[in-house]
Amino acid sequence: MSASRASARLSLPRASLRETFAFLSGVVLPLLGKGVILRRPPAVALAQRLNLDKRALRIVQRLRDRHGPGPLLLPVPLHPYALILSAEHAARILAASPTPFTPASDEKRAALNHFEPHGVLISGERERALRRPFNEAVLETPNPLHHLAPRFLAVVEEEAPALAKEAEAAGKLDWDSFAMAWWRMARRVMFGDEARDDHALTDMLSRLRADANWAFLFPRRRRLRRRFDERLGVHLVRAEPGSIAEVMARMPARPGTDPLHQVPQWLFALDGPARATFRTLALLGTHPAQRARAMEEIASGGPELPYLRACLLDTLRLWPTTPVILRQATEDVDWEDRTIARGTGIIIYAPFLHRDAERLPQADRFAPDPWLEGTPERAGLVPFSDGPARCPGRHLSLMLSSAMLAALLRRGFVPKGLEGIGPDRPLPATLSAYGLRFSPG
Ligand code: HEM
Repeated sequence: MSASRASARLSLPRASLRETFAFLSGVVLPLLGKGVILRRPPAVALAQRLNLDKRALRIVQRLRDRHGPGPLLLPVPLHPYALILSAEHAARILAASPTPFTPASDEKRAALNHFEPHGVLISGERERALRRPFNEAVLETPNPLHHLAPRFLAVVEEEAPALAKEAEAAGKLDWDSFAMAWWRMARRVMFGDEARDDHALTDMLSRLRADANWAFLFPRRRRLRRRFDERLGVHLVRAEPGSIAEVMARMPARPGTDPLHQVPQWLFALDGPARATFRTLALLGTHPAQRARAMEEIASGGPELPYLRACLLDTLRLWPTTPVILRQATEDVDWEDRTIARGTGIIIYAPFLHRDAERLPQADRFAPDPWLEGTPERAGLVPFSDGPARCPGRHLSLMLSSAMLAALLRRGFVPKGLEGIGPDRPLPATLSAYGLRFSPG
């Protein structure tokens, strides 16, 4: 749109400097402290103890109460942001990706450049047009069950008993042992059995992700990234039958797709479902009615496990593993009678939309059922984002998580020390997956 037209229109309603500071210190700072790309468990524990996520929610609720449904301009010097405050606006922004609202925002590029500069998420429009279809084809985005599901589910069924045995010997199941088993499973799914014990690969990625938490404040470690890429390449070239690497090897890729450099995002993204699985195990251990339905579903067989998937989705609603979805305006955009200026960062703060008691009767309760009843994204529930850049790995992720969850539920693990959590009181704004413990059933 022309500059003269833009100047004739109003800019967005604006937060005061004081409100902007409150948002930066009360919402953004705790997110950065906990680690955006790689979580820091002690910082998450501190946030839980100090109730920082609840305070962050209140800050955003107050902004909505004062300014209405927004979008609300936060006048951050040099880089203004528009804060999305309604479910309908979130849906409109996400539907308009990658133009005029690109997912490749400045902050995301600064962070993800540390380990996946050619990943689809931070690609420009031309490269995205090649890379997004490749991601969808390999991950089989529309399919609830990937065509390799029988193999992947068998891998879960092999790793879960090993984990259970270890937990029985130790007298407890904790995050460290769960994560170890999860990554063994994840590497087998991605690259095949040869990669099962390649902890070094996952560790290298963790070090790069730790740097990415600092975005442009930390120099890029080119040597470490080269070593990581080489190791990844070895696993991919093997193209082990029954793995994602095999699917990739068979998939035609047009020049510019850069298949290898799509994989770090997949590995990185497999962290989220691990935390969601562990938290859902805790919720089902403290919510007897939902647990009974889950056990019924598991007993009746079938690989799809829709109720367990709904449980996982509701865990992701309550504690989204991607709490902030960022976009950036690529041009001046007409927005009702206002203009969102080119370059404005767009912040969709999922915990606010997911726990909005004004719209959602289930705001602070564990409520899997709405996920079985249609398209909750319309009501602003966006754990996997929405629109053309919506997570292409959501079904693969839910399939692996629900299978692991079923395997652990069958073995009767019981949460320890979660007396404050249950159906008769509001669920807390933070639930650190790292602090959860279960005793063998
Ligand atoms: C708990 C599990 C997961 C959650 C909650 C999740 C959530 C998300 C969200 C919210 C986005 C959009 C980010 C943004 O717009 O800034 C996204 C993008 C993406 N996710 Fe996931 N994800 C999960 C697991 C996975 C898995 C397992 C894979 C692959 C194996 C995957 C692959 C991707 C890719 C490639 C993108 C970029 C899509 C694009 O830019 O077009 N995700 N995910």
